[in-house]
Amino acid sequence: MKLSFKILLTLTLVITVVFGQHLKDVEIEVKVNDLLRQMTFAEKVGQMTLFSGTNKRYEQMIREGKIGSLLNVIGMEENNRIQKIAIEESRLGIPLVIGLDVIHGYRTIFPIPLAASASWDTVLIRRAAEIAAKEAASAGIHWTFAPMVDIARDARWGRIAEGAGEDPFLGSAVSRAQVLGFQGEDLADPLTLLACAKHYVGYGAAEGGRDYNTVDFSERTLREIYLPSFRAAVDAGVGTLMSAFNEIGGVPASANQFTLRNILKEEWGFDGFVVSDWNSIGELVAHGIAKDRLEAGVKGLTAGIDMDMEGRCYTTDMEALVADGTLLEELIDDAVRRILRMKFKLGLFEHSYIDENLQKGLILHQDHIQTALELARESIVLLKNEDGVLPLNRKELNTIALIGPLADDKDAPLGTWRCEGKREDVITVYEGLKNKFGNDVKIIYAKGCDVKNNSRSEFNKALKAARKADIVVMVMGESADMSGEAASRANLNLPGVQAELINAIAETKKPVVLVLMNGRPLTLSNVESKVTAIVESWHLGIQHGNAVADVLTGDYNPSGKLTVTFPRSAGQIPIYYNHKNTGRPGDPDTKFSSKYIDLPSSPLYPFGYGLSYTKFKYSDIKVLNNRLLSTDELVVSANVKNTGKRAGDEVVQLYIRDIVGSVTRPVKELKGFQRVALEAGEQKTVQFRVSVQELSFYDSDMKYTVEPGNFSVMIGGNSVEVLTTDFKVVSLK
Ligand code: GLC
Repeated sequence: MKLSFKILLTLTLVITVVFGQHLKDVEIEVKVNDLLRQMTFAEKVGQMTLFSGTNKRYEQMIREGKIGSLLNVIGMEENNRIQKIAIEESRLGIPLVIGLDVIHGYRTIFPIPLAASASWDTVLIRRAAEIAAKEAASAGIHWTFAPMVDIARDARWGRIAEGAGEDPFLGSAVSRAQVLGFQGEDLADPLTLLACAKHYVGYGAAEGGRDYNTVDFSERTLREIYLPSFRAAVDAGVGTLMSAFNEIGGVPASANQFTLRNILKEEWGFDGFVVSDWNSIGELVAHGIAKDRLEAGVKGLTAGIDMDMEGRCYTTDMEALVADGTLLEELIDDAVRRILRMKFKLGLFEHSYIDENLQKGLILHQDHIQTALELARESIVLLKNEDGVLPLNRKELNTIALIGPLADDKDAPLGTWRCEGKREDVITVYEGLKNKFGNDVKIIYAKGCDVKNNSRSEFNKALKAARKADIVVMVMGESADMSGEAASRANLNLPGVQAELINAIAETKKPVVLVLMNGRPLTLSNVESKVTAIVESWHLGIQHGNAVADVLTGDYNPSGKLTVTFPRSAGQIPIYYNHKNTGRPGDPDTKFSSKYIDLPSSPLYPFGYGLSYTKFKYSDIKVLNNRLLSTDELVVSANVKNTGKRAGDEVVQLYIRDIVGSVTRPVKELKGFQRVALEAGEQKTVQFRVSVQELSFYDSDMKYTVEPGNFSVMIGGNSVEVLTTDFKVVSLK
């Protein structure tokens, strides 16, 4: 086919698709405005109201058009029943949108998001979100309150478990992957979900890591650290956002016109709708910026919240305020338009009921379980491995002592926000090891202690098991309820008497492999030196045990890398890799420098860190051109060689540093990453191409720009061990 014809054909295709989509959007706008014109004031605020569950009173309110959406309505029969009331028994028959917290799986439960982010595998993360959407949508759910994209630098905050860690670049990549996974190509596809990026914004910066607490940071920090992952979600086409509980420098996020209207709706052009978090509008009264729910409702609506979750603040009491000019009806109309727009995009008017055959064979499909295993394996981070104790050598092994309160626990692997996950679907570590070893290796199991309480009554049984074994595997950490919402911890040590048990077992001089199950970074300084190996396995979902067994035996070579810093002590928090240099950078040998007198300032394990069963050697970092204009592209590469005896995946990371700016800049910032598979002895040249525009930041005038000057560029397998070279950005003037 001649080239010119090919180009013509491609162009025609692109124009048809784009024009076709535009036509569809115009069609939807016409329908939205047609419907809006017919609505009473009560029906308008009804569309802006979201309640949890169903009951006779809500059913009557649905008939009267006073509820437009529900959450936590489980099961397709119930969903179809309640939808029927909305469509057949209300005046305008506007369908409900039904939401649920499908955070890391519906029934096939995947690793918690903090674990999954440690895979740095956005393709697999997207696949998991697609599967979650299929299973949930087939059960009648239209909308998930995910992805949670809050950046978190404070491990005391329990909701660090729900996000992708501390870095805005990685957080943005994961945010995009999840939105695309949940929403698919077309929201009208019955097996996709409307996504909801949350909690807008800054929720992870709660003072003291205490959930719901005060947040106060500069606009520069807001824009450079906490907004990018939301912008990535909006650019990926996310249909909704959820506003947060916290205040931001005196203005609650759920009444913050600057973040909601100026930035989100005007600067970014977001055309979906914003839902409040649970009663976060009503809580403006507790925050002390509204005297009652009516004033709270006016503040929430004026700021840009389109739908009120369980706040009971958007009511017909507002009609009098519209009449006396206190409140613009246009604000209400805009909110209703946004909500109706999403309902049309979801195809709810055409396909209002879920086809009850859709779910057949979908839930817990073998492919879903396989994906859960793959993501679980890639989420595991090897933190320590002395004397090559791992992988376990099955030929030399006769007896393993398997000890710890989480070794045979079916609940913890499901983690926080487990949706419809069930314990009976979980493979525990004990079951995973039995699946792996069969009768080849004897496993003596002893719980040893509980997660939280201080009983030492089973220590002796555990010690006896250890003495009989060649090696001890201890599975310790946090139960699922110790992370997630309203689960902040002031102390990040292993809870209860777990550390004591580890120390007691270490006295037997047997090699100890510590397998952690946790929803946040823990402080391990009191046990780290007592164990031979540490495997960070988080809460990995239903395939937890098989994934851990695959890693312990070397059937899978661990490749995970931390997406959040592990402190030595909670006293170091906040601690994160992309920190500023300060005027007195910490130096252990310089008294008057930024450091502690009782602890090294460095973390126990840094951002980006993770070991493998093989070794990777980095060499020969170089830039293609070390003098760049702001319109150029930085092209930088390094050689990565697998110098070990077995194949392995390595997450190669790219960092930059802007040496001098009109404001202080971080000592390093992640600007790229690539998972690279290398056979034993194989070397690859890994190249990164970064537009110089991606080095922009908010300068001293809050202008988003690239400033000419010197830069360092670093490539490595974590944020500390890197090769460095430099380049210059020059200006045309
Ligand atoms: C909760 C959470 C939010 C969740 C919502 C609905 O309070 O903050 O993340 O989506 O309520 O369950």
